[in-house]
Amino acid sequence: MTDYQTIIEQIHNDLLKHKSYGEVAAYIPELAMVDAEKFGVCLSTIDGQIYHVGDWQEHFSIQSIVKVMLLSMAYTKLGGQLWQRVGVEPSGTPFNSLGTLEHDNGIPRNPFSNAGALVVCDVLLDVYDDPKQAILEMFRDISGDPGIEFDPVVAASEKATGYRNVALVNFLRSLGNINNHVEQVFNLYLDCCSISMNSEQLARSFLVYANNGKTLDGQTQLLNSSQTKRMNAIMLTCGFYDEAGDFAYQVGLPGKSGVGGGIVAVLPKHFSIAVWSPRLNEKGNSYRGLKFLERFTSATGESIF
Ligand code: DON
Repeated sequence: MTDYQTIIEQIHNDLLKHKSYGEVAAYIPELAMVDAEKFGVCLSTIDGQIYHVGDWQEHFSIQSIVKVMLLSMAYTKLGGQLWQRVGVEPSGTPFNSLGTLEHDNGIPRNPFSNAGALVVCDVLLDVYDDPKQAILEMFRDISGDPGIEFDPVVAASEKATGYRNVALVNFLRSLGNINNHVEQVFNLYLDCCSISMNSEQLARSFLVYANNGKTLDGQTQLLNSSQTKRMNAIMLTCGFYDEAGDFAYQVGLPGKSGVGGGIVAVLPKHFSIAVWSPRLNEKGNSYRGLKFLERFTSATGESIF
């Protein structure tokens, strides 16, 4: 059996000896204040084991990681019809790009770009009475932790400065791919991005993607196994924007990043692993998070490939 605790401690210690590069996500003023040197890891397996190292108990803003849950909720409601509104192709463009939308008649290339997630939020506003509460309840349920909350300070900070997302939601609306009021869609998206979790809560939540769509106790079935396969496929191909190919090449797991410095990755039928380190590389993905996971899958020999 793999000695996960020793492996994650070794990699964590080793990376701490080397300088971490990159910058925190200062375009969201509140995130500019986060301690850039934090570094936490949690691994959770489908046989119920849990392993931690470093700052795993500290909460951080999950940001774009929430897009996986938003997509899962929209997909279970709409099924394949959802793909009329958003594609499943890697974009090769940065997370906040407006670039391909005009050419593609307002259909975002995939649901993990900001444009794609805004369309998904528009869908959720149509199918849930209170989508903001529904997403929070879903996280509380699948993580088994009723303490998970939004961070209203982070949400307000981004709402005040989110010019790119204002542009995106208005552009999408002008192209006919947003039905609700732009402010409602913008607010729902940024409230969801502000959800605050620690590495253990995040790893536990994403265990559903390793466990055929259900929680370990079998009480909640978020997705069926076919839907779970599809969510993992989109994480693998689109989870890291214009670095998705590099992540697949270096790490070899489906995963998702957020500009709060979190990365969560999944080995279907085995485990989920969350890493948090706030310094981001130029693609907006955690510098140390990526390094850690590359070392982890190399040391264990455990990846989807
Ligand atoms: O919309 C934004 O710009 C942020 N709330 C989320 C972006 C993000 O996390 C990109 N991920 N690496």
